[in-house]
Amino acid sequence: MDKKIRIVGVCSSPRRGNTEILLKEALRAAEAAYPEISTEFVGLRAKEIKACYDCKACERRKADSLVEQCVLKDDWAEVVRPLVDPVPNGIILASPVYFSDVNSHMRAFMERCTSLAKPYWFSQIPFSAPDFSRTAAGGLAVGFHRHGGQESAILSILRFCVIMGMVGVGSSDPVHGPVGYYGGAAWEDVTGVSGRESVKEDAWGLFSARVVGRKVARTAIMLAKAPQVPAVSEAYVSPMESYRKEQND
Ligand SMILES: Cc1cc2nc3c(=O)[nH]c(=O)nc-3n(C[C@H](O)[C@H](O)[C@H](O)COP(=O)(O)O)c2cc1C
Repeated sequence: MDKKIRIVGVCSSPRRGNTEILLKEALRAAEAAYPEISTEFVGLRAKEIKACYDCKACERRKADSLVEQCVLKDDWAEVVRPLVDPVPNGIILASPVYFSDVNSHMRAFMERCTSLAKPYWFSQIPFSAPDFSRTAAGGLAVGFHRHGGQESAILSILRFCVIMGMVGVGSSDPVHGPVGYYGGAAWEDVTGVSGRESVKEDAWGLFSARVVGRKVARTAIMLAKAPQVPAVSEAYVSPMESYRKEQND
């Protein structure tokens, strides 16, 4: 079978540990469930990803590609390219829980994606924004504690995905209903003996990740098979534009 439906998983843990295990569980489940699915793993570990400075350079530059519109020199362009060139059918973002949210690596990765959306607002940019409207997206998180903020972290991921125009999915199994609720939620200290691989003891957490993998895969396949429906827009003048016009008249 020709594997035409591509899912990219991004793991933001700075170490090779529980989050990577959880993400790979989801990606494996996606491939096992549907023969047409192929998956790729992107690790942010040891990659330098600076926070967005809001310097606005991406609004003015004319670089060689959209991911190079951001002026910051680090590894972000390399790790984001699989999400843009070409746009995948599915995306799964996985983060360790830090202070009840995603870690700063994931946050910086997401912030920098603002440059990808700038073509919507600045017509002089010589590239189109990536069209994620047929991309299914899910989130995974691992915390030390059972209730350490996994849901907040996953919701941060889903908010980002929705803002970028993706089709966000949760983790709902046709037999069990909502398993991880918002996504794949797992914990490290399940047995009281924690370590980099102890998430392997969290059977329900691993199950919730597999559900996300299958859900993203199934939604990605459905979106890929759906007919092309043209986007309908309208001529819109923002209040700021009308104000400026008024001032100049
Ligand atoms: C700076 C920092 C903040 C953390 N905050 C939380 C937290 O709020 N809730 C929680 O359950 N675990 C927290 N943890 C623990 C990690 O989420 C946990 O160890 C996780 O398994 C790490 O994933 P990894 O093995 O993939 O690196 C924190 C860890 C660090 C380093």
